[in-house]
Amino acid sequence: MSNNAPIGVFDSGIGGLTVVKEIIKIMPNENIVYFGDTGRAPYGSRPVEQIIEFSRQILDFLNRQDVKIAVVACNTMTMWALEQARSRYSFPIVGTNSGEQLALAATKNKNIGVAATQATINSSKHAARIKAADASAHVFPQACPPLVPLVEREELTGAAAEAACRECFQPMKDAGVDTVVLGCTHYPFLIETIKHILNPDVIIIDPAEQTAHDAYETLKSMDLLANAGQQAMRRFYFSADPARAKRLAQRIINVPLPDFQQVDILK
Ligand code: SIN
Repeated sequence: MSNNAPIGVFDSGIGGLTVVKEIIKIMPNENIVYFGDTGRAPYGSRPVEQIIEFSRQILDFLNRQDVKIAVVACNTMTMWALEQARSRYSFPIVGTNSGEQLALAATKNKNIGVAATQATINSSKHAARIKAADASAHVFPQACPPLVPLVEREELTGAAAEAACRECFQPMKDAGVDTVVLGCTHYPFLIETIKHILNPDVIIIDPAEQTAHDAYETLKSMDLLANAGQQAMRRFYFSADPARAKRLAQRIINVPLPDFQQVDILK
């Protein structure tokens, strides 16, 4: 496998761009191929068999792009499809970090909220991992089905975003959480609206940065980091509306971006 092969990053839509942003920060000379399944998002309300099948289709596409590693920048696919996928491909696959260590390090009152898609909450993995690491912690899981469609529609602020975020975050605020894990890579796009609802001293954990570090550590341990001085080439593919995806990407990624392209990964 070549050190200068791209890092493949994928998500159900545009949420994984929050992870790309962190990868670019810590590995600026890495080539990147991104795929966002904007035509079929959201995944979080889909049956598990479909989440697994769509993940396989995307990983087959990234395999054809000769990636040296794949980063699942989607909690839903990480929770349900990652383990099976690892045995199918020759490249390593890193999932979205679930943030429990960061949350346990941050919390003072051990009341931790977890906001995620319905499928991620159904997996119960956040709660199980937090409790396994500290049995005295209290976890307040909350499924937030309206949030991913809002982000995909670019409705990051305004009345609809405010109402949906309130429905998701008010119950954990009322329960007295001092730390909240964003268990979906789309949610950081809503951070300003989310902050309006939670108390200002609540710590919000966005696991994107840790996910990028996990990918870095994996590449380093396999001696697969890009050669120093490589000029990064980045390609961004979407199954629908690449122009909208680029507008959203430009809100968070502060480097020049190429044109985003539409692709049919099943062809
Ligand atoms: C979704 O498509 O529902 C969101 C994916 C995620 O969990 O990050």
